[in-house]
Amino acid sequence: MKRTHMKTLVIIVAILIVVRIGFSVGTCFLCMLPQLGEDELEHREFINEIIKLPEPRYDSETSIEEALSTRRSIRVYKDEPLTLAEVSQLLWAAQGITGQGIGFRTAPSGGALYPLEVYVVIGNVKSVTKGVYKYKPHEHELVKVRDRDVRNELSVAALRQTCIGAGSIVIIFSAVYERTTQKYGDRGIRYVHIEVGHVAQNVFLQAVSLNLGTVVVGAFKDDKVKNILNMPNEEHPLYLMPVGKK
Ligand SMILES: Cc1cc2nc3c(=O)[nH]c(=O)nc-3n(C[C@H](O)[C@H](O)[C@H](O)COP(=O)(O)O)c2cc1C
Repeated sequence: MKRTHMKTLVIIVAILIVVRIGFSVGTCFLCMLPQLGEDELEHREFINEIIKLPEPRYDSETSIEEALSTRRSIRVYKDEPLTLAEVSQLLWAAQGITGQGIGFRTAPSGGALYPLEVYVVIGNVKSVTKGVYKYKPHEHELVKVRDRDVRNELSVAALRQTCIGAGSIVIIFSAVYERTTQKYGDRGIRYVHIEVGHVAQNVFLQAVSLNLGTVVVGAFKDDKVKNILNMPNEEHPLYLMPVGKK
């Protein structure tokens, strides 16, 4: 074989080897990519959807005395949807902005540091997709953090209390303790716990005024609730409130 032919052959073989190696490496990398089956694709979460809440009402037919004297823990609810207006009213009662300027809220807060976060699990609300949403007080809107109805999982995490699965919605309060302890030290922990009581009572009285049933639930497994709601590390769940028609 001539020298030039030999050279061409060597080059062709070298190119073939490089192409073959490239193909194998490429295939290998493709294998490493997560392979999504149809089921997984269906269950991928479409989060960050924003729902603008309707303006809350600032008066009603129910006096504060009537709400206080008729408030009772209700643990059984009708299987009927709530409206977005009712959800808006309950969340506004919890943490709605009521003051101009720095944004004072419906409930008091030590040093106006607002350590509480509010979630709502939407299970049965007219024209709203099921899922877990976080309430944004300043914008008075909801941001979706999970695309699934987690009421039954929450009920299991709350020692199988059936009221959690039965509510059309479940409101959850969590705390970022550092917002308060960085100013007040350990005493801030006490302040945060006092605050969640204020907030829950606001929701309770608002529910009475809307003729809805609710109960405060403190018995649950913290880690499970945290995981179910996709809470960031620094947040700690404190209270659950299922709400439904009575
Ligand atoms: C801190 C705290 C935790 C509670 N945890 C639960 C609970 O896990 N499950 C429940 O059904 N009720 C719970 N409750 C509600 C009480 O059982 C209820 O308030 C009490 O029986 C008085 O009834 P009333 O709310 O109708 O006045 C809790 C109440 C408080 C204040």
